[in-house]
Amino acid sequence: MCGIVGATSERRISEILLEGLKRLEYRGYDSAGLAVLNDQGVIESVRRTGKVQALKDAVGEHPLSGTTGIAHTRWATHGGVTEANAHPHISDDCIAVVHNGIIENHEKLREQLKGLGYTFASDTDTEVICHLVHHERKTHDDLFEAVQAAIKQLEGAYGTVVMDCREPGRLVVARSGSPLVIGLGIGENFIASDQLALLPVTHKFMYLEEGDMADINRTEVKVYDAKGTRVERDIHESDGNYDAGGKGEYRHFMLKEIHEQPSAVRNALEGRIVDGHVADDVFGNGSLELLKDIEHVQIVACGTSYHAGMVARYWLESMAGVSCNVEIASEFRYRTSHVHRNSLLVTISQSGETADTLAALRLSKELGYKGSLTICNVSTSSMVRESDLAYMTRAGTEIGVASTKAFTTQLVGLLMLTLAIGQFRGMSAEQQETVIKSLKTLPAKLEEALLLSDAIEALAPEFADKFHSLFLGRGTQYPIAMEGALKLKEISYIHAEAYAAGELKHGPLALIDADMPVIVVAPNDELLEKLKSNVEEVRARGGIMYVFADKDAHFKGDNSMRVINVTHCDELIAPIVYTIPLQLLSYFVAIIKGTDVDQPRNLAKSVTVE
Ligand code: G6P
Repeated sequence: MCGIVGATSERRISEILLEGLKRLEYRGYDSAGLAVLNDQGVIESVRRTGKVQALKDAVGEHPLSGTTGIAHTRWATHGGVTEANAHPHISDDCIAVVHNGIIENHEKLREQLKGLGYTFASDTDTEVICHLVHHERKTHDDLFEAVQAAIKQLEGAYGTVVMDCREPGRLVVARSGSPLVIGLGIGENFIASDQLALLPVTHKFMYLEEGDMADINRTEVKVYDAKGTRVERDIHESDGNYDAGGKGEYRHFMLKEIHEQPSAVRNALEGRIVDGHVADDVFGNGSLELLKDIEHVQIVACGTSYHAGMVARYWLESMAGVSCNVEIASEFRYRTSHVHRNSLLVTISQSGETADTLAALRLSKELGYKGSLTICNVSTSSMVRESDLAYMTRAGTEIGVASTKAFTTQLVGLLMLTLAIGQFRGMSAEQQETVIKSLKTLPAKLEEALLLSDAIEALAPEFADKFHSLFLGRGTQYPIAMEGALKLKEISYIHAEAYAAGELKHGPLALIDADMPVIVVAPNDELLEKLKSNVEEVRARGGIMYVFADKDAHFKGDNSMRVINVTHCDELIAPIVYTIPLQLLSYFVAIIKGTDVDQPRNLAKSVTVE
């Protein structure tokens, strides 16, 4: 989703801004722009629709020279994908603004500003901010005070950076609902919506909190809290070393990340199982104090992370002996729900910034939950900072918009959570040992599953001319079928639906014909015979099936059924193992369709607006 980069330095900063935008590309965007204050006090700006490369090329032709500047990648919300709607927006050639989030009262402000004589060059909500600051500047000598007065009038979510042509070297920033991080350099300082953007220039970061504003120049950063009181925020040293060009031998980040899953899971397990138990500090210091009293788990998440939560429900209820509900965050936050006694609110999020999930976490604090825990891949994210407990998935930076290794490592975390809660709820030492044994085999099983790559690539052409597909699974494989369907639609743009196989006869059977491939996930588990009946229902109606099955499940391929044997694994880890072939299938189909695999159209990696 939208990305922000800003810099004030003694050196020319166009390249730094462009490199920052490049590093934010993975978040998803549809246009990009930058504005630089040159030595003559003139703001020069370039914007382009499409990729950052197009912006780079444009700047290459007309270099922008200056030491203070702001830049942005836009993911359209208000107003189409046009150059005029791309950020930065500039009022009267003097106040330049970039903004992430949504200003909900923009229509009212727009009318007011029009009444004051301002004309609008875009359809965006953001443009009201720059005119508003410009207007406030008439009565406030100080830029910071003008921005403060302007943001008081805003309703909605924003992370915004303001530059004034009369104030070389100065940037004023405000955070409310959209993350911002300040990067600290020597004789230079930076701002970004994601620290990845700034790793080439600094490893020292200061995270703004909700309601914070900051006044930044080359040598000083002053932070003020929501009440306007000067505050100190901690400085964190990052060991991040993400290389934006780092696809290694792989054609796409997504493929690289699919192949990284055995090592990501190894990392996730490293040092976390001690003496046959999940180590006490896996969820944070003192976590056992909270977990020992938990009688119910409420999981809230979006997208792929929601599917991880759905798998976890099977585990938590069958092994840990706690009841568990799983809900999409955008629904949970807007309905009145019943809070169970001693209930733990668990958020799952690779980014830790998804607006709806974060809002659900904040809401849970008012609702009387016993505590909160996040399963997350970004240690510095809002969710990690605002949750009582956190489990870090340690998947490493995930660049592909379609989540892969973040998902499988979330599942590892959720199995550990099952163990951690289960130990207080009658899960025997033997049961725990079985889970741990099974978990330890997981990296090797994932490696074996990756060996299917060539076979799956070979069958991908059979999907490329299809418009619809159906994914079937039962039990823990039902959410995996959902995840498989989501992957396929995300990156190949083929309509894909997932059904619990038992529901087949309640609707989807009507859709079956030779033009709708049916993908079946079939490990050798206790539901296998039931699933086989469902397979027969499809066969009888002339459906074409692709069955990912354990060899011992004894499926026989024929004209209506292609069988892809998946390595035999313990039932417990099967949802994680069977995820791999489905990821590979979506990847190879997308390759044939020629889509933008790492940045699929209209999607974003970090969804910071609701
Ligand atoms: C976006 C991403 C998905 C992700 C979802 C939830 O839609 O493209 O890959 O699953 O957001 O994100 P989260 O960061 O909360 O896991």
